[in-house]
Amino acid sequence: MSDKEILIIFGTETGNSEALADDAKSLAGDYGLDAKIMDMDDVSVEDISNSKRLLICCSTWGEGDQPTNAEDLYEDVCEADEGSMDNVNFAVLALGDTAYEFFCESGKQWDTIIEQKGGKRVNDRIDCDVDYDDDDECENWIKSTLEKLGNI
Ligand SMILES: Cc1cc2nc3c(=O)[nH]c(=O)nc-3n(C[C@H](O)[C@H](O)[C@H](O)COP(=O)(O)O)c2cc1C
Repeated sequence: MSDKEILIIFGTETGNSEALADDAKSLAGDYGLDAKIMDMDDVSVEDISNSKRLLICCSTWGEGDQPTNAEDLYEDVCEADEGSMDNVNFAVLALGDTAYEFFCESGKQWDTIIEQKGGKRVNDRIDCDVDYDDDDECENWIKSTLEKLGNI
């Protein structure tokens, strides 16, 4: 494992979050980072707590619910020891739809729980509506996040 590794994890139902995670992986090298991308279904709490740099891309489903592939990991992280993520520098990219009552709720939950377990937020969460692809805001957020994580 290189010293400049970043773990990028995605929670998704229809692939939008995975596509953005892929974009982040493609850009990571520009910031001196060695990116590893994982489906949340394949991620353990230890994978997260051992990551110095973590980017979470996650959509919201149902009525403010985690995507299916994120449910188990989210529950496990909620049960993790306080302070277990003290060494994790992280940021959250949330995907959702403002037409729903609980806009980007899953991303908000990730942002809260990783900090509660000791993680250090390097960039404020971005909450992306359905038109997130229409301008550069999302890509610019990914770049600024990678830049901050690359400097750690
Ligand atoms: C059945 C359904 C339920 C959804 N529920 C929510 C919700 O509660 N809150 C929200 O912000 N977005 C909600 N969304 C919007 C999705 O989060 C959004 O379309 C997102 O881009 C999907 O990303 P994904 O392909 O990574 O899962 C819902 C979409 C569908 C189709």
